[in-house]
Amino acid sequence: MNRDILSILVLNGPNLNLLGLREPELYGRQTYADLEDYIRRSAMELGCACEIYQSNHEGVLVDRIQAARGVYGGIVLNAAAYTHTSVAILDALKAVEIPTVEVHLTDIRSREPFRQHSYVSLAAIATVVGKGFAGYREAMEILRNRLIG
Ligand code: DQA
Repeated sequence: MNRDILSILVLNGPNLNLLGLREPELYGRQTYADLEDYIRRSAMELGCACEIYQSNHEGVLVDRIQAARGVYGGIVLNAAAYTHTSVAILDALKAVEIPTVEVHLTDIRSREPFRQHSYVSLAAIATVVGKGFAGYREAMEILRNRLIG
């Protein structure tokens, strides 16, 4: 791990690869590639290094969280639907003890009742909801302020 620059793993869960196509009235018309560009630009402006990874598979996300130990100083996680179901992702976050900020494009607190519970929140140092792409920048800023000052 480079100790001078904060290195952040940005992890995105299932169906986020379909941004732009999926429920555009909720998630907007910008694509996943647009989101990646936005995150890379934001990381550069904040002086952070970032790696972005998306998977539709719970176990792959668990593997990536486990492998992040000793490599990344912080995690930005949009676990998408697994937010509401995955004890395995929660346990992985607890195991690695890497400061994690949870992000959701939409405001899960004002959507269907089943979206209002988040397992990820139980391990996250902060949660940013309902701010679209800007939520990812805010999450990286929170990590930078918390970890570098
Ligand atoms: C989401 C909200 C989740 O409830 C949903 O399953 C997603 C996206 C969001 O970014 O708003 O896939 O995490």
